[in-house]
Amino acid sequence: MTRVLFVDDEPKVLRAIKRMLATVNCDWEADFAPGGREALALLAQTPFDVIVSDMRMPEMDGAALLAEVTRLYPHVARIVLSGHSEQESILRAVGVAHQFLAKPCETDRLLEVVGRAIKLRELLADPKLRTLVSRMSRVPSMPQAYCEMMEQLQSSASSLRDLGAIVARDVGMTAKILQIVNSSFFGLPRHVPDPAYAVCMLGLEVLQSLVLTIHVFAELPVEGLAGVGLHDLWRHSTATGALAKRVAAKEGCDRQVCDHALTAGLLHDTGKLILAANRTEECREAVRLARSDGISLPEAERRVFGATHAEVGAYLLGLWGLPDAVVEAVAFHHRPTDCLGRGFAPVTAVHIANALEHARSATSDEQPPDVLDAAYLAGLGLTERWTSWREQCLEGAHS
Ligand SMILES: [Fe+2]
Ligand SMILES: [Fe+2]
Repeated sequence: MTRVLFVDDEPKVLRAIKRMLATVNCDWEADFAPGGREALALLAQTPFDVIVSDMRMPEMDGAALLAEVTRLYPHVARIVLSGHSEQESILRAVGVAHQFLAKPCETDRLLEVVGRAIKLRELLADPKLRTLVSRMSRVPSMPQAYCEMMEQLQSSASSLRDLGAIVARDVGMTAKILQIVNSSFFGLPRHVPDPAYAVCMLGLEVLQSLVLTIHVFAELPVEGLAGVGLHDLWRHSTATGALAKRVAAKEGCDRQVCDHALTAGLLHDTGKLILAANRTEECREAVRLARSDGISLPEAERRVFGATHAEVGAYLLGLWGLPDAVVEAVAFHHRPTDCLGRGFAPVTAVHIANALEHARSATSDEQPPDVLDAAYLAGLGLTERWTSWREQCLEGAHS
């Protein structure tokens, strides 16, 4: 049975949650603790899947509790439900919580966030991989982008526009900034898909605290990562994002679908970074296996890890509260037919853009190119469109 633990020192908050849960039909069980120590005692007795904790509590506050939960039970999804109190405690929560919900929180929103955290586990069956991903508080950044960010933040001439441009080029920084904005840590409007705009909304002072004090960004140690399939990953990611947005716009999609296509395109291979940074040797093994057996990289990853980079990346982004359409597009970018929705969606744009991008850079074949799902495109009536996109794209590359 899936179990959720709610922690709050105010009895009336816990009573309200209990009352609310009694009126809805959920397929998980809830338990309640009046403080951090009681919560840890319950966790030691019973396995839980999600914890929803208040921040300001006497003795042990929410940040200290969640830090302990990260250490002892890293697979548990960690959600903060708190009033927007002082910035310092929110900053501490950024380092330990997957998501932040502001009090008062509507019933639907609370149920949606908890329900999504539970459902996400279907994406990644292996508990070891789930633990690895849940423990991560950062996705490593490209060293060049990381250095530029540090220099800009320490310079008196830095502008939010320049900082936003750096974030929008980097997979790890984009993922982190969108987590912070979409999880309402700072009470900003949710569903901001554009990382550069998100940086402007956070403001210079908050960004400085996040980066220089909380260290929300980290540099990827590229020297030790030869042969793990990261060659050109950043160029490929930004190009896929831009192409996905272009394809969605050409198909007459609305602004939101285009924005989600851009974000998901940029983030679609986040899982490669996660695996390369944490399971380096097995990544090398997957790349070797793909070459020696002539199979796709996702197939080789499934043999080595029991999951693909698409699922690993989507699990993290889902845990971090990024929009469903983005998480889905990342999860299914190699096998869009498995995605539940019908019609043209961000996943369609990312699948096409990823394949176009591989076709365009076919000379730098570090790994076998991703395969286009022709049956999926045919089902959407897009076969002829593919030919024209491909021509346009290759023309663009060679001109
Ligand atoms: Fe991929
Ligand atoms: Fe890709």
